[in-house]
Amino acid sequence: MASIDELAATLKGFGLTDVPAAPNTYPKHNPLDIYRSHITELLAQASGVDAKIIYPVLQWTQTLDKGDLTLPVPALRIKGKKPDELAKEIGEKFPGSPLVEKPTVSGTYISFFFKPQPLLNIILPSILKNKSSFGKNPAFGQKDASDPSKGRKRLVIDFSSPNIAKPFGYAHLRSTIIGGFISKLYEGAGWDVVRLNYLGDWGRQYGILAVGYKKYGDDAKLKQEPIKHLVEVYQQMTKIQKEEDEQIKTKQEAIQTLKKEGKEEEASKQQAQLDEEIAKSVSQQARDYFKRMEDGDKEAMEFWKWCRDCSIEALEKSYARLNVHYDVYSGESQVKNESMEAAAKQLADSGVSGDSDGAVIVDLTKHSKKLGKALVKKKDGTSLYLTRDIGACVERFDTYNFDKQIYVVATQQDLHFAQLFKILELMGRKDLSDRCQHINFGMVNKMSTRLGTAKALDEVLNIVGEKMHEVMKTNQAKYEQVENPEQTADTLGIAAVMVQDMKGKRINNYDFDLARMTSFEGDTGPYLEYAHARLCSIARKAGISDADVADADFSLLTEKHAVDLVRLLAQWPDTFVDTMRKHEPATVLTYLFKMTHAVSSSYDHLQVVGSEEPVKKARMALYISARQVLRNGMELLGLTPVERM
Ligand code: ARG
Repeated sequence: MASIDELAATLKGFGLTDVPAAPNTYPKHNPLDIYRSHITELLAQASGVDAKIIYPVLQWTQTLDKGDLTLPVPALRIKGKKPDELAKEIGEKFPGSPLVEKPTVSGTYISFFFKPQPLLNIILPSILKNKSSFGKNPAFGQKDASDPSKGRKRLVIDFSSPNIAKPFGYAHLRSTIIGGFISKLYEGAGWDVVRLNYLGDWGRQYGILAVGYKKYGDDAKLKQEPIKHLVEVYQQMTKIQKEEDEQIKTKQEAIQTLKKEGKEEEASKQQAQLDEEIAKSVSQQARDYFKRMEDGDKEAMEFWKWCRDCSIEALEKSYARLNVHYDVYSGESQVKNESMEAAAKQLADSGVSGDSDGAVIVDLTKHSKKLGKALVKKKDGTSLYLTRDIGACVERFDTYNFDKQIYVVATQQDLHFAQLFKILELMGRKDLSDRCQHINFGMVNKMSTRLGTAKALDEVLNIVGEKMHEVMKTNQAKYEQVENPEQTADTLGIAAVMVQDMKGKRINNYDFDLARMTSFEGDTGPYLEYAHARLCSIARKAGISDADVADADFSLLTEKHAVDLVRLLAQWPDTFVDTMRKHEPATVLTYLFKMTHAVSSSYDHLQVVGSEEPVKKARMALYISARQVLRNGMELLGLTPVERM
């Protein structure tokens, strides 16, 4: 880690006596904090405005031609003068600095450009020394930023959470990808992260599944592709169930007609027959079976546990392909009755819930029309998805004492979570609701037919991997050089899926477009992988290792392309901070695409092979730094950077 002493020495070399630091800044982790503090100091001198007001309003720029940092003068809230005149005046009064050029003023904005040499000497060593931790900041997750001994904050994150016996849908795919990313983000910010998978592993569907398994089940298939097999059995069974239920309904109507016509005898004969049919029906058998489960019947529970275990085992393998793992496999089955009952009592005692036709509801319309009335207990006394989430939240808090809990679930459940948080608050647990956040996302459209029928996560990843393999084969010459093409195709395919998923704002819907996402051109996963592999290949060809560049002379990096690339690399820690604020993976991707474009346009201008030794070394230090930042960004997203392809 580049120490403060080293930084101080670097800065001293440029004529600055100490490392500038405003409160709550982290010069060691984020070199831009040095610049912000320094510019703030000088601006305070030039404007007479308190530094505390200036610091937070210094902004990033969208493009490098607008400077490295910029100040919107109206944000200083100085009365009595036109902002553009003020901007000019402050710009003129801004004292000379070893770190930044004389500011440029445009309208009401004052823009600051960093002087190249100090910047190169601050940023590049910081990346080369901090390596994979460059950009992360463990201080954010400390309970007390100035005192690590107070411990770290804890995040519980509930994501993926598929339903056993139902297909792994796009919502679970997105939740897995986005949740995996958010977990890594918080870890990078020093939080203690508990990853939790809340399986849909309880309910009547198990009854259907158990009944169906006796008919269609195949132990070998279940071992091999459990999720797919269970879904198939379930779907076959629900089809039969539906047909039966319809027939029953028609017969019931016929009996009613007979009764109306006064044909009592015929009616009761048919009714007796029908009762027998109902007793044997899938629906009834499923209900009975689930009842046995609720009563804790050993045999029923064994089958349930076996399905659940096989499913978890298969899920874990798929998750590993996405670099996702869990600390806890929980699920709806795990919520204790006591927790739900205690919650119900609290709701009743505080007069929040009420009886409605034998069911228990919470009328939330008083608080907001949109929230509606929430059902928390059915007439037959059984609990619901919502009830279980209330119980689960309390249990999780008791177990993990979390500082924050995030649920990564599709927008379809916006109402569910709004109700959940409101109910927690109303039952006197505002301490919990305040810590909870629903992170939502939009839909995936136009899954091609093959993908649309995929039942398990593995199937989706395999389909994309195969497609990627085809794309790779179209460049035969290159393809032949890849050592392990299947493995590479798989990694690239996964990158394709993940990048497509994360490059837009979470809330947006997107089309699952196989051709587009597996292309090497444009803003795709394979493009990022290619950019990384190319940087690796340059180092290999030059025969220069990471250790070799430690003593590189950065003053040899004088070209605009080199300086601009370093200016972009300097933005990575700020991009991390911004991402923490927004929880948007797209923030990271937008940055990575911008940075990799800058890398690829510098290749012609900053050649390594063929340059003189010191220049070669300096340029290689730049490329190794760019590769490090690219890798850090990719790994944060959950991608696996490839070294060759
Ligand atoms: N199993 C649910 C579904 O597929 C998602 C669960 C999300 N987590 C939660 N605590 N409700 O719709």
